[in-house]
Amino acid sequence: MTRQDELKKAAAAAAVERLESGMVVGLGTGSTARFALERISELIRNGRLKNIVGIPSSLRTETEARELGIPLTGFESHTSIDVTIDGADEVDPELNLIKGGGGALLREKVLAQASRRNIIIVDESKLSERLGTRWALPVEVVPFARAVEEHFLKSIGATVALRAPNGRAVATDQGNLLLDARFGPMGDPGRLAQQLSGRAGIVEHGLFVGLAHELFVAGTDGIRHLKRGA
Ligand code: 5RP
Repeated sequence: MTRQDELKKAAAAAAVERLESGMVVGLGTGSTARFALERISELIRNGRLKNIVGIPSSLRTETEARELGIPLTGFESHTSIDVTIDGADEVDPELNLIKGGGGALLREKVLAQASRRNIIIVDESKLSERLGTRWALPVEVVPFARAVEEHFLKSIGATVALRAPNGRAVATDQGNLLLDARFGPMGDPGRLAQQLSGRAGIVEHGLFVGLAHELFVAGTDGIRHLKRGA
């Protein structure tokens, strides 16, 4: 395991400590969230967590959770989530986030908006004074609108790349495309989020503004626990 993986695992374990038996838990997507799934599975197996049900934020997480024996449910049965634990690509000092590196931003945002508490878990490499400094913003677009939304994103200052590793476009769990829009350091992520949400061809974007309640950051000095607005 790399040092970064050890940090991700430590942040995940600290967040999972906040879960209680009987909770409906939102299950994030990505390598850090995977460590949280493994820890939840461990606590279910050793009896410390009872009657937990999870709502996965992607088909990938659904598969992983099933393999790990985490009981799953859906919004048909539970319209709200007690706690969601998820990773992030970039986190600013107000706990605003860029997410979607794993392509699951739409379902992740649905979970975040349905959750009473959102706990974000990262290693310290994800911290950033301004969102956009390190990471392009993932934008999910319907295939029909790809060219027009790419043009729009460029017109507001982004350089844009279709996510297509090895030349094959990635399809999201909804069958849409992902545009990675590099804006550079953002002055006002909330305003940008509103601008993007106004576009019909943009299904969702990876700016999570005001959604994270708590953050566990693992670094060389140990684990820090931050709360939004504190
Ligand atoms: C997936 C996400 C992930 O949470 C984000 O990309 C962080 O991933 P990792 O924990 O693998 O670094 O938003 O859509």
